[in-house]
Amino acid sequence: VELPETLADFERLAAERLDAGPHGYFAGGAADELTMRASEEAWRRIQIRPRVLVDVSERDPSTTLLGERRPHPLIVAPMAFHRLVHPEAEPETARGAAATATPFCLSTLATTSPADLAAAVPDVPRWFQLYVFKDRGVTSGLVEAAADSGFEALVVTVDLPVQGRRERDLRNAFRIDASVPSVGGRSGLSLPEMVEQFDASLTWDDLGRLADESRLPVIVKGVLTPEDARRAVAAGAAGVVVSNHGGRQLDTVAAGAEALPDVAEEVGDEVDLIVDGGIRRGTDVLKAMALGARAVMVGRPAIWGLAVGGAEGVRRVLEVLLAELDVALALTGTPVAAELDATSVQRPYG
Ligand SMILES: Cc1cc2nc3c(=O)[nH]c(=O)nc-3n(C[C@H](O)[C@H](O)[C@H](O)COP(=O)(O)O)c2cc1C
Repeated sequence: VELPETLADFERLAAERLDAGPHGYFAGGAADELTMRASEEAWRRIQIRPRVLVDVSERDPSTTLLGERRPHPLIVAPMAFHRLVHPEAEPETARGAAATATPFCLSTLATTSPADLAAAVPDVPRWFQLYVFKDRGVTSGLVEAAADSGFEALVVTVDLPVQGRRERDLRNAFRIDASVPSVGGRSGLSLPEMVEQFDASLTWDDLGRLADESRLPVIVKGVLTPEDARRAVAAGAAGVVVSNHGGRQLDTVAAGAEALPDVAEEVGDEVDLIVDGGIRRGTDVLKAMALGARAVMVGRPAIWGLAVGGAEGVRRVLEVLLAELDVALALTGTPVAAELDATSVQRPYG
């Protein structure tokens, strides 16, 4: 297959390949999708302040995450139901991630269990994303399975006590087919019915207990304010993902790009900051690192890669971002990504 050269081309091709129901589920956001669109726009509106006559003959995109050196700052974001896009599901995506040494984050709503993912793609660096179930037995079973299967971190998603109003799914009357397996849940449920099994009464006290008891470092995903980032640190988190869940939860909240600087100022020296939402270009990655992130999560583009070309498509998506990042590091005059700071960017807002 001829694979596209940009993430935008992957998005267009995937839209042609997928049926309306699944496409709406993967592409859509909450309500008017203002935050979803703004999340891409916010990166684009930040200007780069390039410096010249710097020796950029060698570039180094590496970063440090959870105390370990990583060759680059990309992570595949946790996303539900890869099987709707490709019959090989999450292992296929993970193979594309492994080919570029990109950590793969397996969702609680994955269509592959942690043990099966680890067995299928033993060489992929892997994290497990947790939704806390009302049934704590289900929760602890998942956490144990992940730790036993070589998952290196627990990404606890805290921005989905209830599901956002996904109007594309409502219009399409989108339901997950009963034949699609779902971790911890029964099959044949609508998304809202699955989400009903999650514990909407969860608080910072529960998070603190989870972090205390966890064998794995806990990363809190779905924080948009410095106040909550501070609470995550107090609860024992090793990392925070500044995220609006791809604009799928509460419409009109801030873009990741907008929320990141204040969070970085509050806790950037204390925990690993990751940002996601609308990362579509290597320049977006550079801007995220300049504003205090150690890594970025890439969501929908990985799904478009999977839809268009399976593992090879996922791999190409990640390689395109890395190639763009390499050029951006050189042309910004900042060859060492880990040394980026806010002097490399000009924000259009406070
Ligand atoms: C189809 C889809 C399913 C998702 N499922 C999950 C999930 O199960 N758990 C989670 O923490 N985040 C989930 N997310 C949010 C992503 O992890 C990530 O925050 C977001 O997609 C990043 O934005 P981007 O798609 O613009 O890159 C999902 C996002 C999409 C698009």
